[in-house]
Amino acid sequence: MANINCIGICTGGGDAPGLNAVIRAAVKSAILKYKWKVIGIPDGFDGIIWPERSRELTLKDVSGILPRGGTILGTTNRGNPFHYETVENGQEVVRDISGDVIANAAKLGIDAVISIGGDGSMKIAQDLFLKGMNIVGVPKTIDNDLSATEVTFGFDTALHTATDAVDKIHTTGQSHHRVMIVEVMGRDAGWIALEAGIAGGAHIILIPEIPFSLEKICECLEQRKKHGKRFTVMVVAEGVKLPAEMKQMSRTAAVSNMIGDAISLMARKEVRVSVLGHIQRGGSPSPYDRILGTRFGVAAVDLIAAGGFGKMVCLQQESIRTVSIADAVGKLKVVDPKGELVSAARAIGIGFGD
Ligand code: F6P
Repeated sequence: MANINCIGICTGGGDAPGLNAVIRAAVKSAILKYKWKVIGIPDGFDGIIWPERSRELTLKDVSGILPRGGTILGTTNRGNPFHYETVENGQEVVRDISGDVIANAAKLGIDAVISIGGDGSMKIAQDLFLKGMNIVGVPKTIDNDLSATEVTFGFDTALHTATDAVDKIHTTGQSHHRVMIVEVMGRDAGWIALEAGIAGGAHIILIPEIPFSLEKICECLEQRKKHGKRFTVMVVAEGVKLPAEMKQMSRTAAVSNMIGDAISLMARKEVRVSVLGHIQRGGSPSPYDRILGTRFGVAAVDLIAAGGFGKMVCLQQESIRTVSIADAVGKLKVVDPKGELVSAARAIGIGFGD
């Protein structure tokens, strides 16, 4: 058992539904189960750069936050203390201020930190751990691309939002006999596109893991026409890799706008594009994300109590487990193009443009 009196909590990277569920669970179990003091660190690790911004979190502070999207602590996807960009005397400079972060945490009386974040935040957490900070991780991202956990919280809510959009796009596409494209998030991995595409009954899904060609998409549209289908619903991940024939197009618009323009020219179809964007990151977390976030928050506090620093809580085979943060960073969890989910989609006629 570690000798702990006070812990800090911070949320880093893009927000995800369920962050407040983790914060609430960690605060409640730290106070009720272990009688620790909890300090909320605002805006990721930025909050320890300016320690005066941190404040104590009481049971009252976390009351009523469970159904709320976003994070009561604020977040940032900049602010890496090992590579801190700042302006000094009108000049942009990059500094390693990780030593200040560790010293400031000690000044605040923080014995250990819970870092809730995705790949970027976990890399920072790992480096701070190697530099001597007592830190544990909680995996978060709507993209669900963090290794060493089967699921990150936030993904389920984003998937519901994306599926709802795909459902809604069907009727207008069908009425106007159009090709409808819904672009969803997923910079490096196509989990949201693949699962929202399957759940929403899309006809074509484009993901970063499967190279596509315009020709194959047009063939698919032609096939549908032959079967009397006058409309098509496509789900496209924002991180999809453009084929060689599109490389010369300048990338000024969302990728799906470019794909839509190219299809409309090649297939002579009317195409409409909806880019969902940050809507997927907002809203009240689903019951699944609230429960997973609660389990992760409680487990992170138990991990600190057990002295499991440098580790991250995760979900494996429906159970909460722990892994080294080092095992979770560096390699993203991407869709297996030959995996069961893609095979099932292909078996029901969904095209991947390949
Ligand atoms: O959280 C991951 C993610 O949703 C990516 O899919 C997306 O590219 C990115 O965040 C956008 O983040 P921001 O606009 O906050 O920089």
